[in-house]
Amino acid sequence: MDLFEKLQELRDQGLSEIDKAKTEEKLNDVRVKLVGRKSELTEILHSMKDVEPEKRREIGQKVNKVRDLFNQKLDDAKNEIVEKLVKEQLEKEAIDVTLPGREEHLGTKHPINIILDDLEKYFIGMGFKVAQGPEIETDHYCFEMMNLPKDHPARDMQETFYIDSEDLLRSQTSGDQARELEKHDFSKGPLKMVGPGKVYRRDDDDATHSHQFMQMEGLVVDKNITMGDLKGTLELMAKHVFGQDRETRLRPSYFPFTEPSVEMDVSCFNCNGKGCSICKYTGWIEVLGAGMVHPNVLENAGVDSNVYGGFAFGVGLDRFAILKYGIDDIRDFYTNDVRFLEQFSKEER
Ligand code: DAH
Repeated sequence: MDLFEKLQELRDQGLSEIDKAKTEEKLNDVRVKLVGRKSELTEILHSMKDVEPEKRREIGQKVNKVRDLFNQKLDDAKNEIVEKLVKEQLEKEAIDVTLPGREEHLGTKHPINIILDDLEKYFIGMGFKVAQGPEIETDHYCFEMMNLPKDHPARDMQETFYIDSEDLLRSQTSGDQARELEKHDFSKGPLKMVGPGKVYRRDDDDATHSHQFMQMEGLVVDKNITMGDLKGTLELMAKHVFGQDRETRLRPSYFPFTEPSVEMDVSCFNCNGKGCSICKYTGWIEVLGAGMVHPNVLENAGVDSNVYGGFAFGVGLDRFAILKYGIDDIRDFYTNDVRFLEQFSKEER
C-alpha cells in the first residue's frame, strides 16, 4: 500500500472514529490518537525522508489537509457535544411557569397576643408607658419591695418556682411596679405604666390551671389620685375589652401591695346578669385585682407616700382571652395546635 492509499484509509477511519465519539472524554482520546504527537499522521511526516523528493511535497500537503480536516471535525464534534449538554441542562432546569404556585402559610396572632396588643394600644393612647421586667426575677423585687417580707403569710397565695434562695421564676408581674417606681422622676410628671409578661406558678395543669400564664400589671402614681380614678380607668378598660354594655362592680379583697384592695367583676356577657353556668349563677364574672398602692410599696422605692399615691391593677390575660373567646381549656393556649390558634385572627396577622 503506498502512502497515498494509507493516508486515504487513515482519513476514512479517523472520520468514522470522530463520528463515534459521543462524549468529550472519548473525543479527547480520539484527538490524541489522530493528531497528537504520536499519531500516525505525525509518523508519516517523520518517515518522509524515505520518500522520493518529488513526492514529498504532495504527501506533505495531503497530510496537512487530512490533519486540518481532523481538527475541523474534532472541533465540530466537540461543539456539538457541548451544545447538547447545555441544552439538556437547560431542559432539566427549566421552570414551568404555568404550574400553580406554592401556597404560603402565614401564621396568625396568638389569641393572648391579640388581647395584649389591643390593651397596650389602648393604654398607650391614654398616656401609659409599657415597661417589662425580667421573667427570672429576684425575691427582692417580686415580693419584698411589694410589701411581702420573707415570712409574710400572703406569700402562700402564690406557689413560686425558686431557682435559688434569691432568684425565682416570677409568679406575678407586680415586681415591675417596684422597678418603675424606683426609676421614675416624679418632678417630670406622673408615672403611668402597664407591664405585660409571662408568669409561672407551681400549679398542676388542668383545664383552669397552667404553670405559665400571662399577666398585665398596671400602675398610676401621682399627687391626688383617688379610688375614683381607679374605678373609672378599669371600668373603661373592661367595657373596651368585653363590650360597652357591660356593667362592672368592685368587691373588697386583699392584696399585700394595695390598701384598700378590690376585685372587679363584669356583668356576665353570656346571660347578661341573669345567671348561667359561665358565671356560676351569680350574674357576675371576676376579671381582675386592683387597689390603692400601699404606702410601704411607695416608701420601699423611695417615693414619699405623704405626697404621692396611686392605684394598681393586675390582669390575667389568659382569663381575658378565655372569657372573650369562650375557651374552655387554658392548656389550649400553650399546646400550639394551629387548628386552635388559627380561629382567632382572621384579618389580624
Ligand atoms: N399580682 C396579683 C396576682 O398575681 C394581681 C394583682 C392584684 C396585681 C392587685 C396588682 C393589684 O397590681 O393591685 O394575683
